[in-house]
Amino acid sequence: MKLSEHVSFIGVHNSTMRIFDIIMRTGYGTSYNSYLVKGKEYAIIETVQENYLPEYLEKIENEVDIKDVKYIVLNHTEPDHSGCLRKLLEMNPDIIVYGTSAAIRNIGAIINMEFHSQVVRMGDKLDLGDGVVLEFIPAPNLHWPDSMFTYIAADKMLFTCDFLGCHFCEPMVLDTHVKEEDKYLSEVKNYFECIMSPFKKFVNAGLEKIKDLDFEMVGTSHGPVLKKYLKQVLEDYKVWANEEKKEKNIAIFYVSAYGYTKRMASIFEEVFEAHGVKTKSYDLLEYSLEEQAEAMNKATAVLFGSPTINRDAVLPVWDLITKTEVINVQHKPALAFGSYGWGGEACAMLMNRLESMSYNVYPEGIRCHFNPSQEEEEKIREAAVKFLEMCN
Ligand code: FEO
Repeated sequence: MKLSEHVSFIGVHNSTMRIFDIIMRTGYGTSYNSYLVKGKEYAIIETVQENYLPEYLEKIENEVDIKDVKYIVLNHTEPDHSGCLRKLLEMNPDIIVYGTSAAIRNIGAIINMEFHSQVVRMGDKLDLGDGVVLEFIPAPNLHWPDSMFTYIAADKMLFTCDFLGCHFCEPMVLDTHVKEEDKYLSEVKNYFECIMSPFKKFVNAGLEKIKDLDFEMVGTSHGPVLKKYLKQVLEDYKVWANEEKKEKNIAIFYVSAYGYTKRMASIFEEVFEAHGVKTKSYDLLEYSLEEQAEAMNKATAVLFGSPTINRDAVLPVWDLITKTEVINVQHKPALAFGSYGWGGEACAMLMNRLESMSYNVYPEGIRCHFNPSQEEEEKIREAAVKFLEMCN
């Protein structure tokens, strides 16, 4: 599908996908966007995930003979965008791959074959002829060190890979076809939260780099090509990237087999609230993992409560901890607690994991043998007060 005078969409859609790359849920599928740019010479921007190879090759062949493609630009090298690169290079070994130095390094390790490459730096250009010039704008950590943008002034079009994208499949190409605006915009926000929010200062740097460019469309690597919602999404990114660090707030996450760990959670909550600190408790069986993760990453301090079952903490707690934005932990206070019947190993295991992620972990796991006794309740209250001191 032609998007502009020199750019065609050659990506693939999967509207029924519900789990993306093992870790991220998508309610509305996704697309792997790839673009063909035609000047006198031809370039492809991004490839697609390798499972889609047959469909992708058909899309390319509908537009051009792969032997006539001279360049492939990868704005980011995660395999959802580099997955078909090896096959394309096998079909045409003369193709020169353009990317940042980090990208070219990654590609070598991904495709494990010799290939022609060109490392680009800020402002480097690739002239395809007929007035079509690709300009490269490295924009690291959006969301990998390899990331960059590619700009085509002649078509007023910018390519940003994951940046400004989302998992949403109509399956039309342009955002002017989006029928359910609320769902689409909520997925843009969800994508920002999941993928870009750990890199807010780089989001601001990226926005700064493109603020004076004249573009009317953005070809992302997932979701509809931005046109109608372009201004809004750029504005939203600016707002989301600059949301102030919130007031002190504590989130308590727990799972409770018989109500004892839950009781411990409510004692902690009562003490925190009594000291005027906004606190919310989450029974992990009552919230989606996305809701838990958002609350965990937004909280200024966190507690994790798990009973010990089979000498381990329970799965919902481990699952939540894996959603930590480690890059933003920066010694965030954390405490492990839980009721137990036999050995009570869960707390120590959780503490080890939290420490390895650079949380500032309360030095003692707060454990109760079955139902908190009067004495154990006092111990929880004391720990809660000391934990608040760590939060100052
Ligand atoms: Fe869509 Fe970071 O890959």
